[in-house]
Amino acid sequence: MNLPGSLFPPLLIAQFVSLSSTAARTTFAPKPPRLTTKLIHRNSIFSPYYNPSSTVRELNQEALHRSRAHVQYIQERMTAARMNGGLLNNDVLSLGLIADNAGISFLANVSIGQPPVPQLLNVDTGSSLLWVRCKPCNGCPRQAVAFFDPSKSSTYAAFPCTSWSQICGDSSGTCSLGKCTFSMRYFDGTVVLGDIASEQLLFETTDEGNLPVHIKVFGCANTNTGPTDSQESGLLGLGPAKFSVLKQLGGKFSHCFGGIHDPKYEHNMLVFGEGAIFEGDVTPMETYLQLYYVTLEGISVGEEKLDIDPSVFKIGELGEGGAFVDSGTTFTIIVKGGYDPLREKVESLLDQFLQRTTFQPDPQLLCYKGQVDLDLIGFPAVAFHFAQGTDIVLDTHSMFLQMKQNVPCMAVEPSNDKMMNVTVIGNLALQFHNVGYDIDAGKMYVQRIDCQLLQS
Ligand SMILES: *[C@@H]1O[C@H](CO)[C@@H](O)[C@H](O)[C@H]1NC(C)=O
Ligand SMILES: *[C@@H]1O[C@H](CO)[C@@H](O)[C@H](O)[C@H]1NC(C)=O
Repeated sequence: MNLPGSLFPPLLIAQFVSLSSTAARTTFAPKPPRLTTKLIHRNSIFSPYYNPSSTVRELNQEALHRSRAHVQYIQERMTAARMNGGLLNNDVLSLGLIADNAGISFLANVSIGQPPVPQLLNVDTGSSLLWVRCKPCNGCPRQAVAFFDPSKSSTYAAFPCTSWSQICGDSSGTCSLGKCTFSMRYFDGTVVLGDIASEQLLFETTDEGNLPVHIKVFGCANTNTGPTDSQESGLLGLGPAKFSVLKQLGGKFSHCFGGIHDPKYEHNMLVFGEGAIFEGDVTPMETYLQLYYVTLEGISVGEEKLDIDPSVFKIGELGEGGAFVDSGTTFTIIVKGGYDPLREKVESLLDQFLQRTTFQPDPQLLCYKGQVDLDLIGFPAVAFHFAQGTDIVLDTHSMFLQMKQNVPCMAVEPSNDKMMNVTVIGNLALQFHNVGYDIDAGKMYVQRIDCQLLQS
C-alpha cells in the first residue's frame, strides 16, 4: 500500500491552552513540547481499582495472574501471526487482537475532544489504536466516566471514506455503509466495533500546562461486548502500526515507572513525540508483531556474568525466540537456556541462608521462606545485558515478590514451547528505568533513574 507521505505530519499543534510562566521565560534553546500523561498503576491509590483492604500478597498474586493473562494474550498473537499474518500485520491497525482487562497493568488519563473530557484508558502493549467508548454505546459496560459524546465535541470529525480507506477496517479494508469503521477482538473473545474519526487529544506538559494535539485516526466505539467490570473508558495501544497513535505523534515515546509496590508513587509517566526522553544507553530495536524486540546478550548476577550462550536469545526464522521489552507483562520470562543458569545462581546464593518452599498454586516458581524486605535485602543486582552495552538492572524488589506472608518468590519465569521460547522483559524489571523508543530509527534508550527527576 502506498500512502502520501503527508498523511501524518509529526505533530499538529492546534494551540496552546495554557502555559505556565516558567515556560514563557525559557527562551534560548526551546525544547520540543513534552506531551506527557501520568501512568496510573492499577493497584495504586490513583487508580479507580484501588482497594485499600488488599494486602501486598493479594496484590502480588493478582499481579502474577495478570502477568500470565498478558503472556497468554501475547502467545495468542504469536499463534495468530503464524496462522494468518494479515490479522497482525504491522500496517493494519483496525483489525486486531487486544488484551482483556485481566492483562492490563497501567492506566493513562488522557483528555479528548473540545471541550476536553478526561478519559481513563487501559494501556495495551501489542495493539496500536487509541479508542474510547462513545455515546450511544451498545452492550457497553458501565464505566467510571460518562461515555464520550462525539456530538458535543467541536473537534470530532468522522474519517472521510474517500481517502485512505485502507485504515477503515471491515475485513475487505473498505468503508461499510459510507463509514470508516474498526473492529477488534479481545483476547477473551469479546469484540469492540466503532467508527474511525479524527479528534483532539489534550496532553499535560511537564510545566503543568496543557497541549492539544490533533490526531487523524482514533476509534470511537459504539459496540463493546467487552469486560463487565470496567472503570476505564477505552484503550491506548502502544504498538507501532502504521496508523497508530504513536506514529501520528512522531513515532517516538518513552515511559518511566518507579516502584510498582509503592501505591503512592506518583511519577510514573508516558511521554509522546519529539519530547520523548531519550537518555542513557542506546541499543538497536526492531518491531515485530507490534512488540519491541531488542538483542539480549547475557545476564549477570553481581559481578558474575552467567555462562549463557547468547544465541539462546536470538529470534528464529519462524519468529520464535527473541527478547522484547513489554511494560504490559509484570514478571520477566526467560527462555530456558537463560532461565536455568539464572535460577541455579540464585539458588546457590540463597540455599545456604534460606529454606526453600513452594508457593502452592505455582510450584514452578522459585520460592523461599522469609521476607523480601528482611531476608533478601542486599541480594546482588541482576543485570540484563543488551547489544551495545545497554543494561537493565534489577534490584531486590525487581527480582523478588512477596507471594505469601512468609514466602518470597523470584519474579522470573521460564519461557516454553507454547510461548515460542520468547524472552519478555516485564514491568517489574523496568522499575526505576526510563525507556525511550525511537521507532523509525530502530533504537531503544535505557536509563536507570528515579522518574521524579525527569519531571522538570
Ligand atoms: C484525570 O484527569 C482529570 C483532568 O486533569 C482529573 O480531573 C481526573 O481526576 C483524573 N483522573 C484520574 C483517575 O486520575
Ligand atoms: C523451544 O526450545 C526447545 C528447547 O529448549 C525446543 O525443543 C523447541 O522446539 C523450541 N520451540 C520453538 C517453538 O521454537
